[in-house]
Amino acid sequence: MAEFKLPANSIVKQNGKQFAAPAGATNTRRFKVYRYDPDSGENPRVDTFDVDVENCGPMILDAIIKIKSDMDSTLTFRRSCREGICGSCAMNIGGTNGLACTTAIADIEGDITIYPLPHQPIIKDLVSDLTNFYAQYASIEPWLKSDTPAPPDRERLQSPEDREKIDGAYECILCACCSTSCPSYWWNPDRYLGPAALLASYRWLVDSRDDATGERLDDLEDPFKLYRCHTIMNCAQVCPKGLNPAKAIAETKKMLVKRRL
Ligand code: SF4
Ligand code: SF4
Ligand code: FES
Repeated sequence: MAEFKLPANSIVKQNGKQFAAPAGATNTRRFKVYRYDPDSGENPRVDTFDVDVENCGPMILDAIIKIKSDMDSTLTFRRSCREGICGSCAMNIGGTNGLACTTAIADIEGDITIYPLPHQPIIKDLVSDLTNFYAQYASIEPWLKSDTPAPPDRERLQSPEDREKIDGAYECILCACCSTSCPSYWWNPDRYLGPAALLASYRWLVDSRDDATGERLDDLEDPFKLYRCHTIMNCAQVCPKGLNPAKAIAETKKMLVKRRL
């Protein structure tokens, strides 16, 4: 997986508090964890935790839970399902966005840096504010729009071939790993929709049951919403579900070209 560096942030104090492993620990790994509490009035810092991984589950999330349980109960992060389904535990691990619950400690070499998702406002520590991300998802109107009433006695049917068209698009868990790894999104988060919202948009554009394709495409005819994607491909490289938003964006651009011909 490609690694991209977080932008230099001179106000982050690199040497924050140090937390030693318990006496007698024989197998420790060093975690360097971003800490920031906007209400404190203090600058962000990076705390160091030497974690006894012999007495810890195998995943990054296990280590973060152990840090909170045994070393510093004030550490704040999101998590829920613990199995790569809810998207809550997305963060920047070793310089790459990913899910803490599906990333193995053993797969990261050396000191393990844990930062929140890049380029988002911080609520506290590893919890970034995804208000803008969710608003952009809502803006693509991610629901079926049909001109025909639903059949009274069964679901709306699709052929197997039509159903296949949404494979690779419907599985998104809205973790935001892709959008927050996208340089175009970093620079224009208010105007570029970003890969996650555009993948969701594509999911409805290719759904044979949806009758709003034209108006959905009209809404994307904008210099920023769609066309700020420059095919840098970070989105596809970091997606923990193996999805390819860049491909969906390219297909959407093709749909816009085709309807002009
Ligand atoms: S391919 Fe497009 S959406 Fe994906 S990271 Fe690059 S610019 Fe962003
Ligand atoms: S496309 Fe992948 S990385 Fe992006 S929000 Fe969905 S699951 Fe997460
Ligand atoms: S806790 Fe749900 S995806 Fe990690």
